[in-house]
Amino acid sequence: MAEQLLVLDDVTKDFGSIRAVDGFSLEIPAGEVTAVIGPNGAGKTTLFNLLTGKHAPTAGRIFLRDERIDGKPPHEIVRMGVARSYQITNFFPKLTALENVRLAAQARHTGFSPRDFLTHYADLGEPAEAAYGVLRRLGLEHLADEVASTLSHGQQRHLEIGIALAADPDVLFMDEPTAGMSPEETAETKELIQDLAADLTLVIVEHDMEVVMESADNVAVMNRGSLLATGTPDSIQENEAVQRAYLGGGGAV
Ligand SMILES: Nc1ncnc2c1ncn2[C@@H]1O[C@H](COP(=O)(O)OP(=O)(O)OP(=O)(O)O)[C@@H](O)[C@H]1O
Ligand SMILES: [Mg+2]
Repeated sequence: MAEQLLVLDDVTKDFGSIRAVDGFSLEIPAGEVTAVIGPNGAGKTTLFNLLTGKHAPTAGRIFLRDERIDGKPPHEIVRMGVARSYQITNFFPKLTALENVRLAAQARHTGFSPRDFLTHYADLGEPAEAAYGVLRRLGLEHLADEVASTLSHGQQRHLEIGIALAADPDVLFMDEPTAGMSPEETAETKELIQDLAADLTLVIVEHDMEVVMESADNVAVMNRGSLLATGTPDSIQENEAVQRAYLGGGGAV
């Protein structure tokens, strides 16, 4: 049995009268790839927002190793080794690829947010080496000095993963890393996920079932805020309740 890195214990999140996450419990093993799947609106992004400190749960507890993290602010959770990339593009479009990653690396070293640096510091100084290392790992080093807004969609999504990696995390959350990608970009991203899985715990929300089936060790299926099923990719594919949830009009997988 792998060690559990993250444990969600009966977690609920309400937005006014909407219950986005409903009594959700899950154990996420260290060193493995866990995919969270489910229909549109199932609560997957909200779950990530709870795990990375953007939202505090309405009820329930979240543990990282043995420490409670629910309700902690995002920068503290990042410093504990948890990083994420977003479903929606999230970088500084006018800065170069290298500057984007470097800001993220620097923010980790000092505890400042990247925006503090942009506002207060002209000289970006040090962790360029680490930032280059990250770009190399992503196969983006030849684009280091390109302005982020000029990169292709797939390159921008990989840059965002780089920004998350710059925090040198133990666990990386990726929200729909292949969304909007061409088949070639999706294939590259699948390889990247498999490469990152060699030394990180990964949690991915992913609609592309081929990516899930080929990359994930564990799959958690979310439906209407609740955990519908967990298991290996094969067992999930054969699970009748899962098939019913998708066929029942919950939206695209
Ligand atoms: N900040 C918010 N304020 C109010 N309602 C929210 C907020 N965030 C999410 N919701 C609602 O919570 C529910 C779950 O949304 P969420 O974005 O977590 O789903 P999802 O599984 O990520 O969907 P998708 O596959 O479309 O990305 C939806 O009904 C959504 O409208
Ligand atoms: Mg989402």
